[in-house]
Amino acid sequence: MKLCFATNNTHKFDEVAAALDGRFELVNLADMGCTEELPETGDTLEANSHQKAAYLHQHYGVDCFADDTGLEVEALGGEPGVYSARYAGPQRNATDNVQLLLKNLKGKTDRSARFRAVFTLILAGATHQFEGVVTGQIIHIPRGSEGFGYDPVFVPDGYDRTFAEMNLVDKNGISHRTRALQKLVDFLTTIAE
Ligand code: IMP
Repeated sequence: MKLCFATNNTHKFDEVAAALDGRFELVNLADMGCTEELPETGDTLEANSHQKAAYLHQHYGVDCFADDTGLEVEALGGEPGVYSARYAGPQRNATDNVQLLLKNLKGKTDRSARFRAVFTLILAGATHQFEGVVTGQIIHIPRGSEGFGYDPVFVPDGYDRTFAEMNLVDKNGISHRTRALQKLVDFLTTIAE
């Protein structure tokens, strides 16, 4: 079954392709000839992931799914959340975002956080959503060079390494995206039976 993953983020595409393990023919936006920026103006992860998938479905007529992810930090009332990508400004720079996060957490004792991913699948015109969460702690000094985004400051519960100190296989084993994606794959597998 051919499915388009509505993302331009190659890190994410590779993670999802690894989790799908060849079970579906996964294509990206470039494969569809989609070069425009997908709309992302909602104020929740659910709204944004739906907006991206709906755009692709309407304009390209493909079965597809999109994700939206946020880092939700307890002591910051759930920030940066849906604004994670542009937390430090429209330049969407990961280093700037991490530095602002560490600054805003200065003096806070509660450093608990969670990554939350929401996938929206549009299949044969019907919409389905799937959520995945991984909880952890924000450390004081970034560590590691793997991954992307907030990975160097996020240590998942039960581990002593940051996401950026894990290889892709280890991160994929527990990540928010894998957990949401697993629900999506289980759903696809069930309806394909
Ligand atoms: P989006 O899902 O592309 O909107 O991602 C929102 C923001 O969260 C981006 O700044 C990403 O860097 C960050 N983000 C998403 N997934 C991850 C992850 O697995 N690790 C670290 N940061 C992430």
